[in-house]
Amino acid sequence: MTNINYLPSQNKDRNGTCSGIYCHSNGSPDGRGTVSGTPTWGGSVTCTGCHGGNSDTSSMSPRHDKHAGDYQYQCDKCHSATVTGSTAISDRNRHVDGQKDVALKEGGSFGDSTKQCTNTYCHSNALGRQGFRTPAWNEAGPYKCFYCHKGLTSDSTAANCAEIGGVWDSEHGACTPFVNISTNAHAKHVGPQWIRKYPCSYCHNQTVDATGSIKDMTRHADGSKQVVIDSQWAIDGRPAPSYNSDSKICSNVYCHSDGTANPLDEEVKQPNWPNKDGHVAMPAMATPLPEHATPPAVTTVLPTTAEPGRSIPAGPQVRNGVLRCPYSAMKDLVK
Ligand code: HEC
Ligand code: HEC
Ligand code: HEC
Ligand code: HEC
Repeated sequence: MTNINYLPSQNKDRNGTCSGIYCHSNGSPDGRGTVSGTPTWGGSVTCTGCHGGNSDTSSMSPRHDKHAGDYQYQCDKCHSATVTGSTAISDRNRHVDGQKDVALKEGGSFGDSTKQCTNTYCHSNALGRQGFRTPAWNEAGPYKCFYCHKGLTSDSTAANCAEIGGVWDSEHGACTPFVNISTNAHAKHVGPQWIRKYPCSYCHNQTVDATGSIKDMTRHADGSKQVVIDSQWAIDGRPAPSYNSDSKICSNVYCHSDGTANPLDEEVKQPNWPNKDGHVAMPAMATPLPEHATPPAVTTVLPTTAEPGRSIPAGPQVRNGVLRCPYSAMKDLVK
């Protein structure tokens, strides 16, 4: 560059570049190192010219990858005093002022020295904001499913039980307290001590896949508890199985029917989720199974005859490779 005169009246093409300046950097992220851009005077730089945005998170501190990248949280969820959404600066005095301003939009706080998030819904068990975790921004993830709200049936292992400080019962393969989720009717649907041991995907079909991995992060920890019942539990000839989040009632779920090809309305139970017993009006058992009883094998109890007026569906009681669960087969066995 020779003798460029930067006075606007002398030279309209002001084309020099600045380098090594903090203001044009990615803000010295912990764990990623400082990278300074070399913008051209008179040019323009977009939001992602100095640091990443929602789709490019490789230049910001690593936990951005999960939060702004995978989960697609808008920047203002955590930087609400600096930006609106992910592309507009709302307070220039806070942006590029040498200070990483963290202000959580939906409540909770961030400790500048501890780097811990406290009282945030996303790190809670989603029950009335209890069970808050206080993860630190510079901790490595990922967390196991039982970190925030307890987990999968398969999480019920001696090692995971020790991790939560529980007592492991090797005979029955269960931990006290449970490692798996056990709020409301979860206990009876996914608990290791019961026959069912359903995967989350049966009822949270758009959030979790059949292997227990989150299949759509934009639905998980997004502020809404999404219950979408797997279509394999439809009863032929009736509306799709559904859950009403206001009344907390499940309707048209095969598992709550009498298992016949032509159930009467009253044979398709509409259980209420907060009812700990899982099913309403279930016949009482003479000797209820104790919590940790070894469950009887399901294959031995499938019905071969139907009650008068009902017919057993043709073919094996297996759909999509999964053993179906006729209510009539279970009602005498399960409390
Ligand atoms: C010229 C470089 C540059 C550009 C362009 C830029 N930023 Fe920044 N930004 C920084 C630096 C450096 C920081 C580090 C924190 C500080 O010093 O305030 C930062 C911090 C932030 C933060 C963290 C909150 C804070 O106050 O520290 C957010 C959010 C942010 N920028 C959003 C944006 C958005 C949205 C745009 C586009 C409208 C944008 N940035 C454009 C350099 C830039
Ligand atoms: C889940 C919360 C969260 C979200 C969402 C989030 N950030 Fe941050 N960000 C933080 C925290 C916490 C820090 C402070 C790190 C520290 O103090 O070391 C930070 C720091 C920064 C910094 C300073 C450099 C660094 O990485 O430490 C920039 C720049 C930044 N954020 C930009 C953004 C932009 C742009 C977005 C949206 C694309 C965004 N952030 C979304 C929590 C978040
Ligand atoms: C960082 C905390 C955290 C971790 C770790 C976590 N979850 Fe969640 N999860 C939540 C919160 C908070 C909710 C509350 C509902 C919402 O806001 O979406 C939730 C809701 C759910 C739901 C209910 C359906 C829905 O869409 O709301 C399922 C199913 C679920 N999580 C499965 C999992 C699985 C499987 C794992 C492990 C792979 C896991 N979670 C790990 C915080 C977490
Ligand atoms: C039989 C259906 C069913 C299965 C299987 C199921 N859930 Fe749920 N889940 C629900 C219902 C119904 C709600 C209540 C939503 C509401 O509050 O309206 C719920 C709510 C939740 C919530 C919100 C917090 C709470 O405790 O209510 C989380 C977290 C959750 N489920 C995680 C899971 C995980 C993890 C699995 C798999 C291990 C799982 N669920 C399996 C039906 C189910």
